[in-house]
Amino acid sequence: MIIVLLVLQRLSWRGDGRLEMCGQVFTEDFPGRAESQMPQVALVFPNNDPAASMVAFYGCLLAEVVPVPIEVPLTRKDAGSQQIGFLLGSCGVTVALTSDACHKGLPKSPTGEIPQFKESKHLSKPPRDWFPHIKDANNDTAYIEYKTCKDGSVLGVTVTRIALLTHCQALTQACGYTEVSCFQSVMNMMHVISIPYSLMKVNPLSWIQKVCQYKAKVACVKSRDMHWALVAHRDQRDINLSSLRMLIVADGANPWSISSCDAFLNVFQSKGLRQEVICPCASSPEALTVAIRRYCCVNASGQPGEGVSFSS
Ligand SMILES: *[C@@H]1O[C@H](CO)[C@@H](O)[C@H](O)[C@H]1NC(C)=O
Ligand SMILES: *[C@@H]1O[C@H](CO)[C@@H](O)[C@H](O)[C@H]1NC(C)=O
Ligand SMILES: *[C@@H]1O[C@H](CO)[C@@H](O)[C@H](O)[C@H]1NC(C)=O
Repeated sequence: MIIVLLVLQRLSWRGDGRLEMCGQVFTEDFPGRAESQMPQVALVFPNNDPAASMVAFYGCLLAEVVPVPIEVPLTRKDAGSQQIGFLLGSCGVTVALTSDACHKGLPKSPTGEIPQFKESKHLSKPPRDWFPHIKDANNDTAYIEYKTCKDGSVLGVTVTRIALLTHCQALTQACGYTEVSCFQSVMNMMHVISIPYSLMKVNPLSWIQKVCQYKAKVACVKSRDMHWALVAHRDQRDINLSSLRMLIVADGANPWSISSCDAFLNVFQSKGLRQEVICPCASSPEALTVAIRRYCCVNASGQPGEGVSFSS
């Protein structure tokens, strides 16, 4: 993977008077650079490249650089991009980390210029005995997320290292991961099979077939995939979903659809699917926040389907 450092100043997204007004609201929520004393870097990765985005994010945390993940700007004039540009300006972000492929697709200036960049191959390699310095989880800023307000303006939110740790612990607990399972995943290189949408369109049962074939323990789908599998399942024999420990239903930022989960369970319960494995979740990609609904995961004597949600 090629990572390029891109100097954002040339993109000149700064907007008109209306944006300046938003800035005043913004600075109140935003302590600014003086407090955190750490360089801040925008992360610009398309959502079809989660691996590069995660590497960059964790790389920043290790390097004690504050990442500000943003959406890839579509055009220079796009109002959303201008707002993001304003956010970055308010944070004092002048450098962005992106992939080579994404960089080539960024909007060009009217004269056809693409932003100036430095390729990471010019950076020196770390020494062999390099060991990351793991900081204690304290009140320093770990990363900056943003939310879009009703009037279309964006508001920056700083997330502290202690909040990040608490969030990770809550997720680990909600997903039932143990230290041993995390360790094994890393050592054995967790086997991940991703099924492209184009294949799902041709064969809506492909994800179920892969679960059966590999006895997958965790599957991550959209409720759309469950719906189309329901429509198509009659053609399929020998389905056994008993290996699944978690069926994560991730519809992005949309609230979960309990009825599509119930419809799916009604049909696939007889094929080994256990009720408690279905976990609908909602996430905010730009905010790196996940809410997950688990069956009795907090209180074993609670109501079925009792939810647990958390945010950083
Ligand atoms: C973070 O700040 C809060 C409020 O100022 C304080 O109660 C808490 O102890 C601090 N946590 C750490 C780990 O420093
Ligand atoms: C699915 O497989 C498990 C373990 O191999 C077995 O115990 C169970 O009876 C199977 N269920 C169905 C519906 O075939
Ligand atoms: C678990 O749920 C039961 C009944 O719903 C309740 O009485 C009990 O206090 C709950 N326990 C915890 C730890 O929340």
